[in-house]
Amino acid sequence: MLKIGVIEGNGIGPEVTKAALDVLEATGLSFEWIPIPTAQQSLERYGHPLAPEVIQLIKDVKVSIKGPLIVEKQAGRINCVQPDGSEITYPSINNAIRRELQLFVAPRPIRGFKGISGPFEKLDVVIMREITEDVYSALEHKIGDYAAEAIKLTTREAVVRVARFSFEYARKHKRKKVTCVHKANALSYTDGLFLQCCREVALEYPDIPFDDFMVDAACYFMVKDPSKFDVIVTSNQYGDILSDLAGGLAGSLGLAPGANIGENYAVYEASHGAAPDIAGKGIANPIALVLSGAEMLSNLGYPKEGKAIVEATHEVVSSGKTLTPDLGGTASTTELTSAIVQTLKTKLQATI
Ligand code: NAI
Repeated sequence: MLKIGVIEGNGIGPEVTKAALDVLEATGLSFEWIPIPTAQQSLERYGHPLAPEVIQLIKDVKVSIKGPLIVEKQAGRINCVQPDGSEITYPSINNAIRRELQLFVAPRPIRGFKGISGPFEKLDVVIMREITEDVYSALEHKIGDYAAEAIKLTTREAVVRVARFSFEYARKHKRKKVTCVHKANALSYTDGLFLQCCREVALEYPDIPFDDFMVDAACYFMVKDPSKFDVIVTSNQYGDILSDLAGGLAGSLGLAPGANIGENYAVYEASHGAAPDIAGKGIANPIALVLSGAEMLSNLGYPKEGKAIVEATHEVVSSGKTLTPDLGGTASTTELTSAIVQTLKTKLQATI
């Protein structure tokens, strides 16, 4: 029995989360789903959108699957009480979940889909986004009504950790190379340190080629010739932006899976947000979270089931018959989910 926390999120969160759970259950593995109240649910129950009880619950289950959570523009900051009574301010509830659990990297394996991604069918990148620091540290303040400033935090410890994770991943998954994306020409000290630490870690992995690109050139080449990239290690903000770019190249943010990984805990979530513009309409593409769930199964020791989900999803999308509107079709979230479930069941039956 796999005990998994479920943070259903809001916006399209509940729709895509239900879809992901349906597909995971179709593998035949047995799950115990532990609902984890966040945002409004946590506020109603505990008086805080991310109460200490909620953090403790996520820690107790160790592994969770999470739908996206809406963060209001200009009002996302959240204070979390620590065991000693002090408070830490985070820029958003999503950032708070990552940092309260010491999740340090968001691996986002984004691939093109045959028949959908046009010139980007062969896109195959894994963006390793550092998620503990950079400009999303909430080290930001106003200077009267006239100015505001934010600190871009970069520490050797955090960069070395995400760089090692990236090289270990590349080695384990037989990827071709690791590329550091930075802006070390303009940010000599912060991004300079990021690049320097990546270069140092690269020396520990002589079997894996390493190179680097400035973030602006990286965006250009992602569009012009994405085969230049394989595993990308980058800071919090650039990783955030590059993930959406890669999702767009694949054909939809609804195709971009992800995860938040730490030493002790993991929270699997799509790269996309809560998509309020389509929430409640039953047309959200569930594939990003379905694929995040597949990655979760592989990491939990069920690679056969994880791989079968990935293959079933690609088969359904490439057949072009059951596609949600973001992919040019008219299918609903549940119709696309059912098609994946059916294909997955047939596939797994064939391997028995
Ligand atoms: P978004 O990713 O939610 O949406 C951008 C565009 O992509 C929208 O047109 C949306 O309809 C579309 N889209 C996204 N996911 C889709 C899916 N699965 N199927 C079909 N279309 C999809 O980004 P946006 O609009 O900037 O943010 C909306 C809210 O989500 C904000 O409150 C933001 O803070 C939050 N957010 C939450 C994240 C998380 O929980 N990790 C990550 C990013 C944003």
